[in-house]
Amino acid sequence: MGGKVGIIGAGQVGAAAGFLLAQAQGVSDIVLVDLDHARARSEASDIAHAAAFGGAAQICAGDYADLAGADVVVITAGTSLKPGQTRLDLLAANIHVVSKVLESVLAVAPETALLFATNPVDVMPAVAVRRFAVPPGRAIGTGCALDSARFRDRLARHLGVSAGSVHANVLGEHGDSEVMHWSGAQIAGMPLTRFAEEIGQPLPPELQATIAQEVRTSAYRIKEGKGVSNFGIGGCIARLTRAIVNDEHVVFSVSTFMEELLGVRETCVSLPHVLGARGASRPLTPPLDEAEAAALRHSAGLLRDAIQAGLD
Ligand code: 2OP
Repeated sequence: MGGKVGIIGAGQVGAAAGFLLAQAQGVSDIVLVDLDHARARSEASDIAHAAAFGGAAQICAGDYADLAGADVVVITAGTSLKPGQTRLDLLAANIHVVSKVLESVLAVAPETALLFATNPVDVMPAVAVRRFAVPPGRAIGTGCALDSARFRDRLARHLGVSAGSVHANVLGEHGDSEVMHWSGAQIAGMPLTRFAEEIGQPLPPELQATIAQEVRTSAYRIKEGKGVSNFGIGGCIARLTRAIVNDEHVVFSVSTFMEELLGVRETCVSLPHVLGARGASRPLTPPLDEAEAAALRHSAGLLRDAIQAGLD
């Protein structure tokens, strides 16, 4: 008996996530839902054909009614980032879309974990909590899990180690105010900067600033070249979904609704959380240096303002 996953939105992000989830351990059924039924049917068939080469899950196109009993529903529906836009520019349009989606999902799957990939991704858990009374741990934004992967990948390339051996997180907004948690980053049980010095690949402040900027602007640069950012977020969705379906208790930097963070009330930012079958644990706040704490407070304030602008 494996897990059942719904994906709302059969665009490039939903399809990438579905493709990866069809190969994932522990997932038995995937239902792809889109207002464009023909598109959802075609993506589901195409993914099913790839899965026939060795995947595990059944995938089909369906309606909201087919989401009954889902363990996780992934929401990718909505407008995506266009050149020159920030994620927060999508606020009003996508809160509208996500509210409609949630009405339909929660009518048939009131207990499901919700995983939001629709931007601004940090605000969407607040929509579920504030408008639909979903418990905070069951409304999860992919948040900075993707940025953390980008950060680890960039550091891994500089240091010549596998990204899986780099323990480094991005916190705060999945967007322009995000915070690289340099002071908590470690490799081999050593602070990151000490490891970098020991292997003769130091990370002076100027290089740290360059890396931070590269990570922060990754999506903009990807979109300049190919018009869409889909595989990174697809991989992120698939990994977080597996963690929930398989009750893995792994730690990822994702966003949930918080009553208070660093003096900011009612916000939603990425912090490390333990992910398992019950969704996300309460947020964990690692030690931060002064500059990181100030940057995280700023990020939390921006998202509180976005939540107020979008929901009040
Ligand atoms: C990304 O970071 C666009 O939020 C999306 O790839």
